[in-house]
Amino acid sequence: MNIGIAGTGRMGSAIAQRLLECGHAVTVWNRTPEKTRAAQAAGARLAGSAAELAIGAETLITILTNATAIDLVYRSPQGLLAGEVKGKLFIEMSTVRPEAERALAAEIAAKGAQIVECPVGGTVGPAREGKLLGLAGADDAAFERAKPLLDQMCRRVERCGPVGAGATMKLAVNLPLIVFWEAFGEAMALVRPLGFDAARLVELFTDTAGGANVLKNRAALVAKALAGEDTGPATFDLDSMRKDLRTMLEEARSRGFELPAAASVLVAFDQAAAAGQGGIDGVRIPAYVVTRSAAD
Ligand SMILES: NC(=O)c1ccc[n+]([C@@H]2O[C@H](COP(=O)([O-])OP(=O)(O)OC[C@H]3O[C@@H](n4cnc5c(N)ncnc54)[C@H](OP(=O)(O)O)[C@@H]3O)[C@@H](O)[C@H]2O)c1
Repeated sequence: MNIGIAGTGRMGSAIAQRLLECGHAVTVWNRTPEKTRAAQAAGARLAGSAAELAIGAETLITILTNATAIDLVYRSPQGLLAGEVKGKLFIEMSTVRPEAERALAAEIAAKGAQIVECPVGGTVGPAREGKLLGLAGADDAAFERAKPLLDQMCRRVERCGPVGAGATMKLAVNLPLIVFWEAFGEAMALVRPLGFDAARLVELFTDTAGGANVLKNRAALVAKALAGEDTGPATFDLDSMRKDLRTMLEEARSRGFELPAAASVLVAFDQAAAAGQGGIDGVRIPAYVVTRSAAD
């Protein structure tokens, strides 16, 4: 299939490499041109603009930071929707509020094209291996058309309802995940005087009712971080988590309720970012919380 990917950040690059490996012809475009290099090295072609990308591809995939990025990539004069896109399929995978996906879906439908929103769980590694968790929102026809491709990107695709439902589910899935990193760090601060070795502590917590799946999946890296060792480049960093927390809080407030746990973690993470920690991966957050607590 002829696929265009607009947005080759961490996730977009990994997805491009995965789809090339699956045998698709992939063309990419990114606002910052240098970030297309990894995808190009893996065999992707480069488009001169998002509009050119959309004209040349049958299916367009976007995975971008936020609603502002969606606005620029789709709606600018050289954006994805600038040219004739009738009959094309758009798969929008960013983590944003449902209203952003619904507004985009209406514009895409008005142009005679189809859309599936499919924000994902899982980070760069699962994206590279086609093992994401897809949380889709779409009408029947668009979903059926997108499903074979989604199955190449995801270990599981859960159709949550019409467009907007996937975004709602994605924000919900990330809430306990993000709160967990802070909560686990606070737990580590509590047990610090016991003097346990980091690997033993993490292993013990993975065997408790409070040990989240993410701890089980990333135990070795969390233990390394707690032991003060290097854990490699960040995949899902603290600044991205702050963005997701703000998005959850906006969504809840627009519907008339509060999210006290998410709100207090955002305060803690804003302070961490102000202290220069915005780029750290989730696996390093517990170690940061222990250091922060020791300094209090
Ligand atoms: N990283 C993860 O583990 C993970 C997991 C699941 C879902 N997600 C979600 O996936 C999305 C992408 O995450 P990521 O980690 O791949 O982020 P990233 O590496 O920071 O990449 C973000 C992408 O969005 C583009 N972008 C940002 N602002 C833009 C703007 N104003 N105009 C045009 N393009 C813009 C960036 O282009 P430039 O290169 O020009 O900045 C880049 O292509 C986010 O919604 C995130 O919440 C991430």
